[in-house]
Amino acid sequence: MRLGKTPIITAMQIERRVAELAGQISRDYAGRELLLIAVLKGSVIFASDLMRRLTVPVTLDFVRARSYRNTESTGSVECTFHPEQSVARKHVLILEDILDTGRTASAIVEHIREGRPDSLALCALFDKPSRRVVPMTADYVGFTLDDRFVVGYGLDYNECGRELPDLYVLDEE
Ligand code: XMP
Ligand code: MG
Repeated sequence: MRLGKTPIITAMQIERRVAELAGQISRDYAGRELLLIAVLKGSVIFASDLMRRLTVPVTLDFVRARSYRNTESTGSVECTFHPEQSVARKHVLILEDILDTGRTASAIVEHIREGRPDSLALCALFDKPSRRVVPMTADYVGFTLDDRFVVGYGLDYNECGRELPDLYVLDEE
């Protein structure tokens, strides 16, 4: 795996933006309890940083959906893990690492909505709107990116690079 020499977004920039998002979410959900549903595996680091900065009480659950092989979207979304707790009558916030074609988020939102939550919102740390195939907008977005494959802060290339604190562009040379 070859990555660009310098990060496109540093750990410190991510930390600041995550704190801002947490502030915004805490204000929006003041007085309510929030069920965070993190999308495995990419959003695990984001979820753990974000939840520690929220000032509303939260519970945490996970969903797993895969639509990717290497850098190519296969177009189909497999849901391979479902939240353990019921979403019924809860305020649910889905945490995605990155919104790309929108297929994954769209499938997850549809699936969660069937469980009849009181409210449902989507937060994506990174967003590549130019790649969208399915109409999908997040309620909260950390950073808007160009159409480049990125690695780090939970995001992987063939399972590698999740542990990097900064975000890099994959160098496909
Ligand atoms: P869709 O196309 O369904 O894709 O919106 C969302 C999922 O695709 C993965 N993805 C990426 N992973 N760097 C990554 O490491 C990227 O630039 C990238 N773009 C999409 C990711 O798993 C996301 O949940
Ligand atoms: Mg991946």
